[in-house]
Amino acid sequence: MKKWISMLFLCTLFGTLTACSSGDAAEEPEQEQTEASGQESEQNEISGQEPAQTETSTSGQEKADAKESETEPESGEGNQPEGEGSQALVVYFSWSGNTENVANSIAAQTGADMFRIVPSEPYVDDYNELLDIASEEKRNGARPEIADSMEDLGQYDVIYVGFPNWWGDMPMILYSFFDSYDLSGKTVAPFCTSGGSGLSDTVNSIKALEPEAEVLEGLHISGSAASDPDSAVGEWLDRLGL
Ligand SMILES: Cc1cc2nc3c(=O)[nH]c(=O)nc-3n(C[C@H](O)[C@H](O)[C@H](O)COP(=O)(O)O)c2cc1C
Repeated sequence: MKKWISMLFLCTLFGTLTACSSGDAAEEPEQEQTEASGQESEQNEISGQEPAQTETSTSGQEKADAKESETEPESGEGNQPEGEGSQALVVYFSWSGNTENVANSIAAQTGADMFRIVPSEPYVDDYNELLDIASEEKRNGARPEIADSMEDLGQYDVIYVGFPNWWGDMPMILYSFFDSYDLSGKTVAPFCTSGGSGLSDTVNSIKALEPEAEVLEGLHISGSAASDPDSAVGEWLDRLGL
């Protein structure tokens, strides 16, 4: 059984582990295993399998590092949103690539610029270790430092904000993001990938963190469907009128 499901189950059973006590974490749906499409998605799903050794060659952190260096401007002025100077921006964090796939689909369908949230201190490649680290970050209310900062969000009216569900919540680095940027007056469209928890209570959390923003309906795509997100993304964009 997936480790996080086991732990959430224990949390539900005993009701004592504060790290697991928030939101929908206790309402975990059964794990979805049937629709894994592609090796990468299967690896990306937190599963009962041992972290495959191949994970180290295709790990989320390596992808993050690769992406970071791809987006690093030669001037060394810091990672700035990539794109054509659109009025929409996709900001996302992704450890193992699922949320990144959805972010790419949103950008492709909207023409939005992109900014990947990369932690200053890279996360481990081993997901079992990551589960513990993320749990501790949540318990401590950590604010992991973001490696690069964006100079100006002024041109953006719409900001898509994407993240994986970690322990029934946003990863704490998303809280770092919302602490760092004032999105007042902007339209925020959250999206999330997960193993089965859906968005949990993250949309309400974002509303609380950005009370002067208009926070729209969130999109959830399961990790196993994240390799082919275009139609779900398109339907969501249509519903939002964006
Ligand atoms: C630290 C950690 C905690 C997680 N907690 C949950 C959870 O509470 N509920 C859930 O459905 N999935 C959970 N997952 C699974 C991820 O949400 C899912 O695999 C997601 O698609 C990963 O996105 P990424 O590839 O963009 O990192 C967790 C994964 C990690 C690494």
